[in-house]
Amino acid sequence: MSNLKKLYIETYGCQMNFSDSEIIGAIMKENNFNITFDKKDADVIFINTCSIRDNAEQRVRKRLLELRSLKKQKKDLIIGILGCMAERLKEQLLEEEKIVDIIAGPDAYRNLPQLLSSVKSGQKAIDVLLSLEETYADINPVKYDSNGITGFISIMRGCENFCSYCVVPYTRGKERSRNVETIIHEAKELFEKGYREVTLLGQNVNSYIWNCEKETVNFAKLLEKVALIDPLLRVRFATSHPKDISDGLLNIIAKYENICKSIHLPVQSGSNHILELMNRKYTREYYMSRIEAIKNIIPDCAVSTDIITGFCSESEEDHNFTLSLLEWAKFDFIFMFNYSERPDTIAAKKLKDDVPEAIKTKRLQEIINLQQKLSKESDIKDIEKTYKVLIESISKKSIDHFAGRTSQNKMAIFSKKTYKPGDYVKVQVTNCTSATLIGKIVD
Ligand code: 5AD
Ligand code: SF4
Repeated sequence: MSNLKKLYIETYGCQMNFSDSEIIGAIMKENNFNITFDKKDADVIFINTCSIRDNAEQRVRKRLLELRSLKKQKKDLIIGILGCMAERLKEQLLEEEKIVDIIAGPDAYRNLPQLLSSVKSGQKAIDVLLSLEETYADINPVKYDSNGITGFISIMRGCENFCSYCVVPYTRGKERSRNVETIIHEAKELFEKGYREVTLLGQNVNSYIWNCEKETVNFAKLLEKVALIDPLLRVRFATSHPKDISDGLLNIIAKYENICKSIHLPVQSGSNHILELMNRKYTREYYMSRIEAIKNIIPDCAVSTDIITGFCSESEEDHNFTLSLLEWAKFDFIFMFNYSERPDTIAAKKLKDDVPEAIKTKRLQEIINLQQKLSKESDIKDIEKTYKVLIESISKKSIDHFAGRTSQNKMAIFSKKTYKPGDYVKVQVTNCTSATLIGKIVD
């Protein structure tokens, strides 16, 4: 009989957090744990949490309520809260959530085995130290929940942009880049295992910088190095800050066919007054000039964005500036959120969260309605065009269909032929439903 213990990991929040869970999986595997997908079977449950909006934290609180009965049935079950919420609330979480045994912040994952040992001797354990250096560069993430074709690679950690609304600089600490060689090694290894797409992840990938003896590698150079591994390996990246998206980077994206033509460029608001209060360090006009540069240098590039509605003091006029920017930019896709005040951020300390919830939601709905129309227009334009698609898996809705993505990051569904996940096929778009292209393989 195996004496391996079983770990169940549940992840909330961004892609970065999902990538962290793969690092956590690797650290635990080295310490005699196997991943289980059944939490009833687990000896240890880790919840990797997010603090970005209050509702992200509320979801975790609800989960902890649900886990109470499991802990009652299984007295020696160990429950750990990891990630941003652990970092933000620290010991307070242990006081408020009695079933929690371990609190570990984003830079404390190497210490998880030690934390587990102290729990076994009857104590609660906490490590929320942030680091200036930790990038988990040497750790080979365990891809425990992957389609085997597309994977994430974390290239940097932390953030020091201090957007006034954002909790991330406090939960993930100082910005630091990961050693370039370990990134290339990880990408090559994934390719050799059959992966055909990697997404390079960081809070602000454009400020990636690594100094080696021979050269200084900035993000454009890193992207090029990954693209050169093999033309069959696609490269994506997220997220970019508009202030740092240089023409040099756009030229590299245009130069390599296997660098995906899709840029996520969060604007947050279309009003200069609000952008200033958000400490975004750019104006509406500057942002528009970057979109123009993208369209000039990479004509077939898709652009997506994030919008926050109802930020402190946002007026109807500010909101209209956001709507008009959306109309102008014609984003292919957007993520939109009601502003949620986060304790200890600059906005929480200095500004008043004075837009009523009902107004935030009304504005959000107006943005959703407008974007639905714009996304539909963007999808309709794709009909009859042919795109190179990487097959990722069998479609969830039909075993007779494959699902894959275009370089522009649009999901496409098409009838199976004699291909398999990991193959590239040409798909002619015949129709579209919300956010999905329907098509057929053309040989
Ligand atoms: N309230 C609402 N949305 C937020 N975001 C970040 N902080 C907040 C907040 N306090 C959004 C931003 C960011 C995305 C990841 O989450 O749009 O780009
Ligand atoms: Fe959530 Fe931000 Fe932390 Fe990601 S970095 S888990 S989005 S708070």
